Amino acid sequence: MGSQPELHILLSHEQIEAAVKKLAAEIRQGYQGKYPLLIGVLKGSFVFMADLIRHLDFPLEVEFIRLSSYGRGRERSGKIKVVQGLRSKVRGRDVLIIEDIVDTGLTTGFLLDYLRQKKPASLRLCALTDKPSRRQTAVIIDYLGFTVPDKFLVGYGLDLDEKFRNLPDICFLEEES
Ligand code: PRP
Repeated sequence: MGSQPELHILLSHEQIEAAVKKLAAEIRQGYQGKYPLLIGVLKGSFVFMADLIRHLDFPLEVEFIRLSSYGRGRERSGKIKVVQGLRSKVRGRDVLIIEDIVDTGLTTGFLLDYLRQKKPASLRLCALTDKPSRRQTAVIIDYLGFTVPDKFLVGYGLDLDEKFRNLPDICFLEEES
């Protein structure tokens, strides 16, 4: 049968809500008088994106991109490709990437390069969580919610084999022995 994973709350929905509001205030400052294009990276970012934009009281455009990272769970091959691309033009736009987590940095690193080639007016990254202990490539996060430890996280959009995205809190999993 194998052991059942046990869920422990790392970041409560109250902590997340406070961080989302703080990030929204910073983003509001950074985009005064602009009409940014917010690009959420599917699937993980959809919960964060939905909450974040409701605290942004200025005109903005929402887009999503889906990338494949070849490999499930924690292991990454490093090969990334665009599975579902953008419909909006990026050239000349103030682009803000919305991520739920930066882990190895390979996904974000790829996306930054991909978008840079499309000549945006500006390109920044907002990530709710950052796991720097796993980094394989340097990534600058312009707007960051939390630095998190090297644990497998689920909830608030993050999954384990597509499960747990609907949890309101961000939890870590521990195998029961
Ligand atoms: C997660 C997360 C980031 C990426 C970060 O997505 O949403 O996009 O991993 O990992 P990295 O820094 O090691 O590249 P995932 O590939 O699990 O897909 P999902 O969003 O559909 O769950």
